Amino acid sequence: MKIINVVGARPNFMKIAPLMAAFASRPKVEPLLVHTGQHFDERMSDLFFRQLRIPKPDINLGVGSGSHAVQTAEIMKAFEPVVAENAPDAVLVVGDVNSTIACSLVAVKMGVKVIHVEAGLRSFDRTMPEEINRLLTDAISDLLFCTEESALDNLRREGVPDEKVFLVGNVMIDTLLNNKASAERSSILEELHLADCRYAVLTLHRPANVDNPLIFARLLDALEVIQRDLPIVFPIHPRTRKSLVESGLGKRMEAMPGLRPMDPAGYLDFLKLLAHARIVLTDSGGIQEETTILKVPCLTLRENTERPVTAQVGSNRIVGTDPGRILGAYREAMDGKGRAYGIPPLWDGNAAGRIAAILVERL
Ligand code: UD1
Repeated sequence: MKIINVVGARPNFMKIAPLMAAFASRPKVEPLLVHTGQHFDERMSDLFFRQLRIPKPDINLGVGSGSHAVQTAEIMKAFEPVVAENAPDAVLVVGDVNSTIACSLVAVKMGVKVIHVEAGLRSFDRTMPEEINRLLTDAISDLLFCTEESALDNLRREGVPDEKVFLVGNVMIDTLLNNKASAERSSILEELHLADCRYAVLTLHRPANVDNPLIFARLLDALEVIQRDLPIVFPIHPRTRKSLVESGLGKRMEAMPGLRPMDPAGYLDFLKLLAHARIVLTDSGGIQEETTILKVPCLTLRENTERPVTAQVGSNRIVGTDPGRILGAYREAMDGKGRAYGIPPLWDGNAAGRIAAILVERL
């Protein structure tokens, strides 16, 4: 059973790592790994392959950045001959990035089965490029693996037959649990002179937040207050760095001594930073899940989430981008109010094994 596994952008790497390991231990599966090259920097890509011990990609499409149409089209053009040449039984895609929809679309039109890992998540916000990628990928997938109950409801509502859909848990959490002990050995806290539970972690990269200087400025209003209370570590995504320079907001940030920018962190350093933070502020999807498992309060700087279970049972609060609301939620979190620290069902480190077992039986 030949499966082409696709990765492209940073959040894909932690999802594919446990799947490649699960396939390696099943002689019936012949996995190939294709990197589209959507993310290409050492700190956005190569470092993750080394730290997560992901096999070197069999093929790198080297596509790089571009507008949505250009990036998606370039990936499709480069991926089609790879599918033709390798004649796989299935193409497996993860998450919701442009590489996910581009490769699924190529596969389905060539009559190759599409497997989507992390299917069914919905923010119900169609201005997010990821929401379009999720809807379209799920509509053409043959097997859909879900992380939480809400995803099953969404797929049922969209008319996806139940027999294609499986609740298996969360491969991203497999990776977190597999690497927690090695992350503890990271010296990042000492390097940044941070004390356990005495700092915040911030990440921002959503186009809706960072490409819009008015919204970004409002977020900085809130962060300005918080950094007087608690140092904020801020690993900066390339998109965000670009926007800080172009909007001039970088200057304003430099005037905040408690806000500490840094380059994008590797997986292990970042996991250590998250695990020991007092609080996390983010617009990422995956970090909402990671803080849930780590039982660290998380404020999500968006109006919605496609991962509602993290707010229902976990430590996540959806607080939007209004400074008053962010500060109110920050104070509540610091007072330890209104927190739940539950763990969603099946987020136990065994999701990739479940997926591999179902694939061997079904394909
Ligand atoms: C992509 C995903 C998003 C995911 C995020 C994680 C889509 C639509 N979006 O957004 O869902 O959460 O990755 O990072 O697929 N860049 C570099 N070096 C790199 C990669 C990117 O400098 O290694 C720059 C690009 O040149 C571009 C910007 O970062 O200017 C954005 O990259 P892009 O891949 O288009 O989207 P992301 O914002 O990273």
